[in-house]
Amino acid sequence: SHSQALAGKEILITAGGTREPIDPVRYLTNRSSGKMGYALAEEAVALGASVTLISAPTALPAPRQVNAIYVESAKEMRSAVLERYNKVDVVIKAAAVADYRPLKEYDRKIKKKDDRFILELVKNPDILAELGQNKKDQILVGFAAETDELEKYAQEKVRSKNLDLLVANDVTIPGAGFAVDTNIVTLFDKDGQAEPLAIMSKKEVARRILLKIKELLSQR
Ligand code: C5P
Repeated sequence: SHSQALAGKEILITAGGTREPIDPVRYLTNRSSGKMGYALAEEAVALGASVTLISAPTALPAPRQVNAIYVESAKEMRSAVLERYNKVDVVIKAAAVADYRPLKEYDRKIKKKDDRFILELVKNPDILAELGQNKKDQILVGFAAETDELEKYAQEKVRSKNLDLLVANDVTIPGAGFAVDTNIVTLFDKDGQAEPLAIMSKKEVARRILLKIKELLSQR
């Protein structure tokens, strides 16, 4: 059985969609529900791992037996992840991290005035890329949500971010991606080899990802 397949392993999982502050009452975010990351946390516990979940806001209850740390912005998530990186065996970055944040966070509410209003954005740090650059012997797993040319972008990402595994899904297919309880993913290994999985619950997808990670851990 798989019951204790990840016993003794420290796993760090990120989940949810980051919130990038605009002013005291507003932020930018995305459609991530957090369901995939939370399912991974629950299944990792079920497989005997010690789990830290770094979560951007979601509507989900904290999974049992998980060390949950709540963050809002990409910058906060970055600090929380980097602080723990060297103490873990596996990092799974299931969070939807905003690519851009407002250049300036206003300390007072922006008042309605002109007909047009330009909000300037700057690039957020790419946490996953940074983890890839500083990797020692951790297993590093990324996610990719794409609408076009899934395979091409997935293979590029595995290489450029120095990943051990990439979970890619085409978010234009019904039953895949944001908010729903099912997912249709393809796993890409570090050589860019594709393993497409059938449609299944996010719980089952989580289990398949974790068993693949178990395989990678036992190869080192
Ligand atoms: O390159 P892209 O943003 O599509 O990669 C998605 C993967 O990178 C996800 O695993 C996500 O959690 C991670 N990511 C990150 N920091 C960012 C953007 C994405 O860790 N700023």
